[in-house]
Amino acid sequence: MIYLDNAATTFPKPESVYKAHDYALRNYGANPGRGGHSYSREAAKAIFIVREKLAEFLGANSSSQIIFSSSATEAMSTILFGSLRKGDHVVTTQLEHNAVWRPLNYLKENKGVEVSYCNHIDASYIDLNDLKNKLKQNTKLVIINHVSNVFGVEQDIEAINKVVKENSNAKLVVDGAQSAGTHKVNVNSLDIDAFIFAGHKSLYGPVGTGGFYLKKDWILEPLKIGGTGSNSENMGVPKSGPERYESGTANTPGIWALGAGIDFINEKGIENIFQHKIQLSHLLIEGLRDLEAKTYYNKNSTVTSFNIENLDSTEVAFILDDLHNIIVRAGLHCSPIAHKNFNTAKQGTIRVSPGYFNTKEEIEILLEAVKELKRG
Ligand SMILES: Cc1ncc(COP(=O)(O)O)c(C=O)c1O
Repeated sequence: MIYLDNAATTFPKPESVYKAHDYALRNYGANPGRGGHSYSREAAKAIFIVREKLAEFLGANSSSQIIFSSSATEAMSTILFGSLRKGDHVVTTQLEHNAVWRPLNYLKENKGVEVSYCNHIDASYIDLNDLKNKLKQNTKLVIINHVSNVFGVEQDIEAINKVVKENSNAKLVVDGAQSAGTHKVNVNSLDIDAFIFAGHKSLYGPVGTGGFYLKKDWILEPLKIGGTGSNSENMGVPKSGPERYESGTANTPGIWALGAGIDFINEKGIENIFQHKIQLSHLLIEGLRDLEAKTYYNKNSTVTSFNIENLDSTEVAFILDDLHNIIVRAGLHCSPIAHKNFNTAKQGTIRVSPGYFNTKEEIEILLEAVKELKRG
């Protein structure tokens, strides 16, 4: 099987991630931070170690700014529902994933939140002048998709934040679901207010892992409320820190294995991982061009979308899977509006997202299969 759907979730995981998951399930089996016994303390310590690793990896000042969740979606909902109220205004982009679109649409329809969408240059980069013009006195958040899961475009977060900070009091939230683990990010030097990551994508953790960085002093209303293992006699929600947002039993094996994923990236070097994906994407783009397929990608894109003539993208993906054992994703990729700009809303696109474990040979096999499919 040739797996080329790493933008959805990476597969396979590094061997060390499987081992770490198994180890934690066997050795960190107690409920972390609950009960005060030594096993519970061991599990809590394991989570703390990974929190520290992530803080260092993302350039956060303190591990208390790293909050774990079950996915990037849960992380994004925690921020949106935890900060937006009636009368607030949000500016976002047309490349957002449904993890942003749907909660914003819900807040718009049910909670009186106003939403504006930025224009894009060449259907890719945010038009900074338009962003500036869209900022208002009541703009509370600006939400930016860092790297598009459909077309691979990477936004210039530094330039965007400059416009936001110079022209408003809004906080900048970056959806890093696609960038974390592939693109070097330093939340501190970028001075962003929140950064969302998907543990199970390019950070190589298991499914069921994700989270966000939250700038110090930004306190959200919690999305879920319950036991935290601390101050049980107190009915109140912890006032700050990860415990405020992480009620309920944590996914210790998943988080511990995510830590092994971070170690793997540090060992291989994030730049090497990025370059490997870029090389495979370039090979793919050149091959698709020779086959006269319609390709949609961006400079330094680690994700490539394409279509073959007017063939339905889901049908093409089905044939690649069924006849060639090649796994790619087809359709709208949970980002329906992104397709409007490229006129691909009807057909969708076939998305190829190579990972660290893919090879040139696998891309060549895919190109051969596309060639065959084109011949009919
Ligand atoms: C840009 C972007 N944001 C958010 C998500 C949602 O991630 P998760 O599946 O971890 O909820 C995805 C998943 O593909 C994504 O690509």
